[in-house]
Amino acid sequence: MRAGIVIGMVIQFSIAACDKEEAPPATRSAITAGAAIFERECVSCHDAYTSEMGPTLLGIFSQREYSWLVAWIEDPIGMGEGDSIGRELAREWAGNRMPPNDLSKRDIHQVLAYMASIDTFPRPSEY
Ligand code: HEC
Repeated sequence: MRAGIVIGMVIQFSIAACDKEEAPPATRSAITAGAAIFERECVSCHDAYTSEMGPTLLGIFSQREYSWLVAWIEDPIGMGEGDSIGRELAREWAGNRMPPNDLSKRDIHQVLAYMASIDTFPRPSEY
């Protein structure tokens, strides 16, 4: 009986884990590839320390779940309409929405691996 409950819980957890997009291991090559993608596709709006064209992404991993970040980068326009956090962001940055991109799922994991690698860098004032 008790074992049955435990097995049930394990199955439940496995299903929940499948629903969520998990971060793949951040290898050195994923981070390097992600840095190139960030440089090409993101840095024009997301400088690490300033936020004129878009929000600063420093510390983002303590604010958002990994699966939310994947969903956002996959479809910033759709998430800006259909997701409650997304709608708030879109309202806040009304004059300057994040455009759609052609990144594959793999590209997105790589760019997130790079972002995670710089996520905890100190700000210049903290050096
Ligand atoms: C043309 C400017 C622009 C580009 C290019 C851009 N973004 Fe954005 N980004 C924004 C804006 C503006 C927002 C705020 C939400 C909105 O209005 O769309 C945003 C929001 C975000 C958020 C959510 C921030 C939060 O506080 O939750 C993430 C994550 C993000 N961008 C990542 C990226 C990544 C990764 C790239 C490159 C693949 C990228 N962005 C490219 C302008 C941009």
